[in-house]
Amino acid sequence: LQETTLAMIKPDAFQHTGQILECITANGLLIKNLRMCQLSVPQAEEFYKCHRGKPFFPCLTQLIASGPVVAMELVGENALCRWRMLLGPTSAEVARIKAPSSIRAQFGTDCTRNACHGSDSHESARLETCFFFIDRKLGMCARFR
Ligand code: CMP
Repeated sequence: LQETTLAMIKPDAFQHTGQILECITANGLLIKNLRMCQLSVPQAEEFYKCHRGKPFFPCLTQLIASGPVVAMELVGENALCRWRMLLGPTSAEVARIKAPSSIRAQFGTDCTRNACHGSDSHESARLETCFFFIDRKLGMCARFR
């Protein structure tokens, strides 16, 4: 089953973009679309709107707006699950114990600064892909086009 998911390298792992792209392609996932941009705080709040009201929301949205992100549409067999497996657990500290070779174990710091994002459902994958690659609003994105 070929499917599509949305991956995002967060500002805290931007310097490791090369290694992360290598990990994606080495694992047989295809990068169908890629975009580098810097989100404003309101754009980050829009992207993570399902987490609005949670205690970590302000920290999370500030982190995401703090520097460049690399958004990618990944394609492959079970791409959604496979990308989340490569990521490892949400918390980088937990990942270092449970999945030491995962991306978050290698490049993340803690629960918020966890290197990369992956869609958690087909519906979020669709919405998040639209956010970066279809919605015209992001034409206003700072610095990188
Ligand atoms: P991500 O895959 O981008 O999806 C939501 C993000 O919220 C998650 O990765 C973390 O960066 C952050 N997050 C989720 N749970 C927590 C938590 N308990 N404490 C701090 N940050 C969290």
